[in-house]
Amino acid sequence: MSTLSTLNTADRYAGDRAAAVTRLFDRLSGVYDTALVQSVMYRPPQDEIIAELGRRRARRIADVGCGTGILATRIWSELPVEVVYGCDASEGMLAQARARTDAVTWLLARSEKLPLPDDSLDAVVSSHAFHFFDQPAALTEFHRVLAPGGCVIVVIVNPRTRFGSRMTSLSTGRAGHFPDERSMRRLMLDAGFATVDQRRVRRGSVGVLSPDLVTVAQVAP
Ligand SMILES: C[S@@+](CC[C@H](N)C(=O)[O-])C[C@H]1O[C@@H](n2cnc3c(N)ncnc32)[C@H](O)[C@@H]1O
Repeated sequence: MSTLSTLNTADRYAGDRAAAVTRLFDRLSGVYDTALVQSVMYRPPQDEIIAELGRRRARRIADVGCGTGILATRIWSELPVEVVYGCDASEGMLAQARARTDAVTWLLARSEKLPLPDDSLDAVVSSHAFHFFDQPAALTEFHRVLAPGGCVIVVIVNPRTRFGSRMTSLSTGRAGHFPDERSMRRLMLDAGFATVDQRRVRRGSVGVLSPDLVTVAQVAP
């Protein structure tokens, strides 16, 4: 089993809010993989990410905020990859991920400080976790670990208005921040990405009220 523990104490508890999010997912980790939650909430965006990785022929991939590891494991088993890392700040979520497979390298790590070398990846993906990150810091970090021409693929819930965004943030106890489409584009460009492509993902009837946004940004070749 390839598990690397990379957080020091200061990293783990950097900020009350981040620590609260981590505690929440430690508690949720046992019930997170129910079929209903997975099929309604997470499967459609994961399908979209896998299709995009396949089109781009990415071989070295990190899933950041990987949770219980469903997406990282699917990437490993469905695509012709060299290496897949699953990174998460919650030990509870990673424990579920480790039980799933040891083909993925599971890393206890925050999005803002990944234990990976510069220019070492073809793609960084993140599904339904980015709203918890320190977003500028995380994107700067993703840019650092991506090789020239590499890409980041981020899926978030996509409130259509700033008001909707504030309301959605309240649903996560103010721990989450949901940028709208334009703000996501700005964040990517500010972090140094050269191109940004965006589209929505349908999630059946749930998606009407709470659609997902996929943002794909590329490092200059
Ligand atoms: C809603 S879950 C999504 C998990 C998974 N991506 C999925 O689609 O099922 C959000 C995950 O993000 C993780 N997380 C939150 N903030 C993080 C951070 N700053 N760095 C790494 N992981 C973080 C949580 O521990 C949790 O496992």
